[in-house]
Amino acid sequence: MWTEQACGKVILLGEHAVVYDQPALAAGLSRGAEATFTPSKNADEVTLDLEDLVMGITRSGDTDLARALGAALDALSALGATEKLTGHVRAKLLLPPGGGVGSSAALGVAVARALAHGALGRALTSQEAVQCATAWEKVFHGTPSGLDHTAAVYGGVGLFTRAGGWKPMRISSPLRVLFADTGERTPTKETVGNVAKLRERRPIVVDGACESIGILVRNAALALESGDLKGLGQLMDLNQNLLAGLMVSTERTETLCRVARDHGALGAKLTGGGGGGCVIAITHEGDEARVLDAWRAEGAPVFEATIACE
Ligand code: MEV
Repeated sequence: MWTEQACGKVILLGEHAVVYDQPALAAGLSRGAEATFTPSKNADEVTLDLEDLVMGITRSGDTDLARALGAALDALSALGATEKLTGHVRAKLLLPPGGGVGSSAALGVAVARALAHGALGRALTSQEAVQCATAWEKVFHGTPSGLDHTAAVYGGVGLFTRAGGWKPMRISSPLRVLFADTGERTPTKETVGNVAKLRERRPIVVDGACESIGILVRNAALALESGDLKGLGQLMDLNQNLLAGLMVSTERTETLCRVARDHGALGAKLTGGGGGGCVIAITHEGDEARVLDAWRAEGAPVFEATIACE
């Protein structure tokens, strides 16, 4: 029996533009997903239970999770697994599913890591974990940039580009990030597809917005490295305006961002694919409770995370 974990992720700035080759500033969240694989010679195949959500998933099922399991098993075979793997995976999410905080990528990485012990008789390298999770994430996201599952594998804080991968960053002190869940959900595949359709109709507008987001991201990396939280917050607000221009924000997201700013947040924005999901905010040390209380008063579930170098 092997238990493995993977990080969730928070995108501080740069979602969607990262699909069009701009950089994104992101960090792993220590809470992500956990998976335990128990091999069994009596079983016919690999089954997967996702605690509190679904039971008895197999690769022949007609759901995205079943297809993702099949894709991860194929990726493990491509890495050299020879014998047919049989047994049971029990997995659990430690983050809100579908909330833009990398739950599906974390699950894919944790499941692939756990299965690898049975399939290959060893742990996956980081590069192999990214390979398996790419196959898994393609099922959920269509054409993922790779950011979510790369952050899930490496953790820490980093700048990510499609071409250059994950570049770990040094930050002067850990950063506390506040989260509020809008309660709304739109699959990332759909919001990414909507931006692609908008780009077909308005290429100059969308490409211009993505380039501007890329500039904000580079400045935000400098602000984060030097501990300039005020500057980082301003850049997050500007990023949110551009995301709203790409039509991936919602009224609820805008309300929670405004409430955060009205209660002392230095910056607030959506995180991940948008169309709901989670909103993030940063504050000066000591101002966190005001923002969290104001969000609670709006009826939003909240949580916080501290991001730091690995
Ligand atoms: C989703 O968490 C992030 C997006 O940029 C999609 C991607 O990078 O694949 C919206």
